[in-house]
Order: sequence, then C-alpha cells, then structure tokens
Amino acid sequence: MNYVLLGRTGVKVSELCFGTMSFGATADEAESKRMFQRCLDAGINFFDCANVYAGGRSEEILGDLIQGIRDELVITSKVFGRVGKDVNAGGLSRRHITRAVEDSLRRLKTDRLDLYFVHQFDRNTPIEEVVRALDDLVQAGKIVYPAVSNWAAWQIMKALGISYREGLARFECIQPMYNLVKRQVEVEILPLAQEEQLGVIPYSPLGGGLLTGKYTTKERPAQGRLVENDMYMKRYGVDFYYEVAEKFSEHARARGVHPATLAVAWVLHHPAVTAPIIGARNVEQLEASLAAVEVEMTDEWWQEISNLSYTPPPATDRLEEQRR
Ligand SMILES: NC(=O)c1ccc[n+]([C@@H]2O[C@H](COP(=O)([O-])OP(=O)(O)OC[C@H]3O[C@@H](n4cnc5c(N)ncnc54)[C@H](OP(=O)(O)O)[C@@H]3O)[C@@H](O)[C@H]2O)c1
Repeated sequence: MNYVLLGRTGVKVSELCFGTMSFGATADEAESKRMFQRCLDAGINFFDCANVYAGGRSEEILGDLIQGIRDELVITSKVFGRVGKDVNAGGLSRRHITRAVEDSLRRLKTDRLDLYFVHQFDRNTPIEEVVRALDDLVQAGKIVYPAVSNWAAWQIMKALGISYREGLARFECIQPMYNLVKRQVEVEILPLAQEEQLGVIPYSPLGGGLLTGKYTTKERPAQGRLVENDMYMKRYGVDFYYEVAEKFSEHARARGVHPATLAVAWVLHHPAVTAPIIGARNVEQLEASLAAVEVEMTDEWWQEISNLSYTPPPATDRLEEQRR
C-alpha cells in the first residue's frame, strides 16, 4: 500500500480509503470487524463514516474497532442527513452542526474527527454560516479539517472564497461520486480540486456494485444494492449504464482482472484522485477492491476503459480556439 498526501495538508493517507456504510447494515458486527482487520492488514489507515449510516450504528461499530489504535488512523464522519423527528434535526445550520458533531464523537468514542464532511448542500443555510460553524469546530479541537461531499463546483469554490477572505479553515478534501458511468466530476470538480490542491476521495468506485461483473444488460443478481435499494435503483436505473457494465466486465475478464479490481484502479488513476473509498458487504467482496493497488494502469489503458463509457462534454462550448 502506498501512502499519499491528502491535498495540501501534511497528512499521509493510504491510497485506498475504506467506507463503513455497510457496518451495521449489510454487514453485521462480526463481518464488520473482519473487514476492518483485513483493511488494517492491507495497510489501510483511512476510514470513512457518516452519522446517518445504519442510523448511527456504523459510527458505534467503527468506534469500538478503533479503540487502542485511533491515533494511527485517519477517521471521517459527516453531517447533513436527518437524524431525528424535529424540524432542526438535519441540514447544515450552525445549530445542527454543533449538535451533530457531539453525537458523532460520542458514538466513535474519540475526541476529534480528522475530516468532517458536510454531506450535501443545504439551500436553507448561507454558505458563510456553514464555513464559520466548521471553523469554530476546528478552533475547539473537535475536528481537524472541514471537508465537503456532493456540492457543485461553484458551491465549493464559493465556500473556499469565503474561507480565504475571512481567514477561516477551508475545505481540505472533497468526496464526490465517481466511477466509469458517473463521470460528471471530470468536468469542473476534479479540475477545481487540482487547482486548489484539495484532497479527493471519490465514493462508489464500483457504481454501488454495477461494475463488479454481476450486472449485465440481461442478468441481475438475486442479492445486491441495485436490486434491493430504491435510491440506488433510481441512481443507476439507466439502460446505457448496464451496457457499459457489460462491456467493461468483458474487457476486464479479457485482461485477466476482476472487474471490481479494474473499476477501482480506473478511479485511482485519475491524477486528481487521492484515494477512492472502497465498500463491501464482506471480506470476499473486499479482496477484489483491495487488489486495485496491484494493477499497473497506464494512461492508454485508462483511456481505453474510458472509451467504453460516455465522456461528459467540457465546461465551455467555445472550444475551437483553445490551445494547450
Ligand atoms: N458521500 C456520500 O454521499 C457517499 C455515498 C455513498 C457512499 N459513500 C462512502 O463511500 C463508501 C463506498 O461507497 P459504495 O459502497 O457505494 O462503493 P462501491 O464500491 O461503488 O459499492 C460497494 C458495493 O458493491 C458491491 N460489491 C463490492 N465488491 C464486490 C464484489 N467483489 N463482487 C460483487 N459485488 C461487490 C457490494 O454491494 P452488494 O453486495 O449489495 O451488491 C458493495 O457494498 C461507502 O462505504 C461510504 O463510506 C459516500
């Protein structure tokens, strides 16, 4: 396992991050423990979590597992999703962020979060309020770095502008969706991250399971997120994605690589990417994603795989005069 700098921070993270969304959900406590241990054995020091995963259970399980080695690990959590019935139990108001961080710290049994992600954009809270609330948490030592997931490029840049102007802690890392069928981030978000030296930890490198070889235009597995989870069925409910998945899986097998391994390696190869966040429901699944670090991806191979999918159009239509 290689270790890379997270953006412009001096923090070194493993080139794969493990996502704990399955903890307490599709993986029980015992399987979560096995996966956690397998990640440590593989050299992973970077674990992604969120307050909403399995209703807080994921943080509790991860919190138990990190006891005794917490200082050797880089731990994240997130805020935004609804965590209670009252009208203020969600979003990014200073009021909710201040409350939610305490709950995450308690469940994770730690005194600080290394990265604290705002999970989505909140149209009801001014960006300045969000940035100031996170800066206060940095000053209080409850979080080390603010970070952002699922925001548009202009929203991230606006927040960075406020941080620069006001001298506040800035977002040091972004967490966008990125895989062979979801490539919107290539247009604005990844270039922004490179320009501003942000760490990039993309989620869903396998498209929630789509790119693992078990989905084709005609076949569906009996069990799996894309046949069981409404949100993911909607997110990936496009015929073209299944055509890409089928072509991609054939390509991977012809090269003697597990499709899941190649899908993660493809994400990892983008120059803006720090560490893809891999996910699994058991150790057997996890092995294929871990093997991605062994793949010797080249620019040519990356392009060949990219050509199996749709490349999103550039951010501006006036291209005929552009020079390199
Ligand atoms: N910021 C956000 O909004 C956000 C959103 C999503 C995820 N995340 C983070 O990113 C992490 C990874 O995301 P993800 O779970 O969506 O990643 P993913 O790698 O795209 O999908 C993982 C899923 O694919 C299937 N799978 C994995 N390996 C497989 C294999 N070898 N063979 C067959 N199926 C396999 C499993 O689901 P099935 O067994 O059900 O098919 C597994 O849960 C999460 O844990 C979380 O930390 C963040």
